[in-house]
Amino acid sequence: MPKSPAATLSLLEKTLPVVFSHHPAALSLAAVVNPDAYLARPPGSGPVVLADPELAALAAYTLPKRRAQWLTGRICAKQATSAYLRKFLPQLPLPDARDIMIANLPSGRPEIAGPFAAVSGIDLSISHSGGYAAALVAAAACGIDIQEDSPTLERICARFCQPQEAQILQRHLPDLQPIPRLNLLWTAKEAARKAVGRERMPGFLELVLRRCEATTGDCTVLVLGQDPSAPQSPRDLPVLTTRFEDLCLSVVLTHGGNAHA
Ligand SMILES: CC(C)(COP(=O)(O)OP(=O)(O)OC[C@H]1O[C@@H](n2cnc3c(N)ncnc32)[C@H](O)[C@@H]1OP(=O)(O)O)[C@@H](O)C(=O)NCCC(=O)NCCS
Repeated sequence: MPKSPAATLSLLEKTLPVVFSHHPAALSLAAVVNPDAYLARPPGSGPVVLADPELAALAAYTLPKRRAQWLTGRICAKQATSAYLRKFLPQLPLPDARDIMIANLPSGRPEIAGPFAAVSGIDLSISHSGGYAAALVAAAACGIDIQEDSPTLERICARFCQPQEAQILQRHLPDLQPIPRLNLLWTAKEAARKAVGRERMPGFLELVLRRCEATTGDCTVLVLGQDPSAPQSPRDLPVLTTRFEDLCLSVVLTHGGNAHA
């Protein structure tokens, strides 16, 4: 029976502390919101989420898909930040969603700006694909990636999957079709690139799948090595991956210092 997005979110929330040794983190996953419907909501019909600079940024996007994914990514980022503050920094007053401003560095990496930038000291990652967006907030550098299955993954597989990595995936996940199997690796590597790429984003082939580890409840951990020449290294990154509908969703929390230190 396929998992719903809500069940996927709850599964990841339960599994994250197990895989990542109780590192503080909060997640959000949402179906894409229609920006025109969102902007046309009558006053008082729901919390106002975007600050004025964010409304201006939304207005600058003209492509409907990008507008919708950008908006939903922002909503998810603010929800994940609020959830994080509620759970891990309860001594702070819970901010209005408009005060949790989400900006992008010149590299494109998202960050929390506005009044909460200084106090939060937390890292943020955003992803969107197909009909969904997702965000992850954590105390250390983190990454999230969501991607719908696409035949393009097979066409470009040499750019991100080496033969030995395909063998590991096939051995560990024999019941998964080739495209979903490749998609798990793609999202795991994208999430890891976002997490470790603050200074320089590594190439897909600079991250190597070392092994898969089963976890309970339909999640798989893909352990990626950051040094392709070393068979094992302390810098190996476990990435928590799962599927729902026709999408893969991967999350990674690094054990490195605070992303904003
Ligand atoms: C940044 C990148 C990882 C985004 O991945 P994607 O699968 O295209 O898109 P996703 O929806 O998963 O992620 C998009 C989000 O990633 C975040 N992002 C962008 N650049 C980032 C970076 N350098 N580090 C971390 N996160 C980044 C942003 O929040 C963005 O959403 P937003 O613009 O709405 O805020 C990817 O586009 C990339 O590798 N870019 C580098 C340039 C590159 O290699 N280009 C060649 C393409 S063939």
